[in-house]
Amino acid sequence: MEAIHPGTLLAASETATQNLSIFAPASPAAQSIQDLAILTGAIFALILVLVEGILLYNIWRFRARAEVTAEPAQVYGSQPVEIAWTTAPTLIVFFLILAITRTLWQAKAAQPAPQLDDHALFVKVIGHQWWWEYRYETYDGRPLNFTTANELHMPVSETGQPRRVHLTLESADVCHSFWVPRLNGKMDLLPGRTNYLMLETELPGLFLGQCAEYCGDQHANMLLRVIVEPPAEFERWLANESAPAAENVAVQTGREAFMAESCVNCHRIRGTPAEGTFGPDLTHLMSRQTLASGEIPNSPENLTDWIHNPQTTKPGCLMPAFDLSETRLEAIVNYLLTLR
Ligand code: CUA
Repeated sequence: MEAIHPGTLLAASETATQNLSIFAPASPAAQSIQDLAILTGAIFALILVLVEGILLYNIWRFRARAEVTAEPAQVYGSQPVEIAWTTAPTLIVFFLILAITRTLWQAKAAQPAPQLDDHALFVKVIGHQWWWEYRYETYDGRPLNFTTANELHMPVSETGQPRRVHLTLESADVCHSFWVPRLNGKMDLLPGRTNYLMLETELPGLFLGQCAEYCGDQHANMLLRVIVEPPAEFERWLANESAPAAENVAVQTGREAFMAESCVNCHRIRGTPAEGTFGPDLTHLMSRQTLASGEIPNSPENLTDWIHNPQTTKPGCLMPAFDLSETRLEAIVNYLLTLR
């Protein structure tokens, strides 16, 4: 199985590195973070040039010379210099505090209560080792009741018509951190604590993200995707996700095999007896672009390899290999392929 770079499914004109850059902001919060990074970078560069410049000048100016043999004048203390080197850093730090506070203010959003026609989406994000669970709660004041994984769909905002996404962040196990650099700063998901994050962008498209807090063996492969869609397309996606899994008699053998195996202990397929919640919800598995939290494209071959032995793709992941016979494996894959 070929492991892919998370950027493989991006537009041809863009690389994953570009998509994960804080210097390509696509939201007001990300813009503020970029401005702060440039401002502080410029201040630090200036200080570096100034300090190193004075140092180099003095090395050259007071270098040892053959004609000077006596000790130079010894100076003990200098009030003006001491006042200068206390005041200047204090002012710089004070200025940085103001700049950082402004960005924190702009990147943070109040968590309002959902209201009818608020054009806002509310999603609960739960961090797991090593994937993301998204529980869609309300959109535009309408209650939603489905769960998906790893790929967050959201509507695009328009000038004068923001469609904000309010995320409630929690963890099922250890500390994780939700980070989509082009949309906002990092926000941690901590056991026993609830954090909030707001996403909003006028740019449709795919935005890549990454868990940004070391959370164990597969932390580096805890990738995530945000898919920003025009409202009509988003509504279609919502309608599809809200529906229970479609029944298909052609894959009855695979369905029965799935229900008879341990799959059902961890995975849910709405509308069937499979009601596990420990692993990702599979009700509309085929509507996702990737498997294994953004690690590999969601192709029939990759899906087969993944179920055959998840440990080769994602060593240490919590899904074991079940030693399925080839025919049983194929039947289960054929069933999963109908979950669109
Ligand atoms: Cu989850 Cu790192």
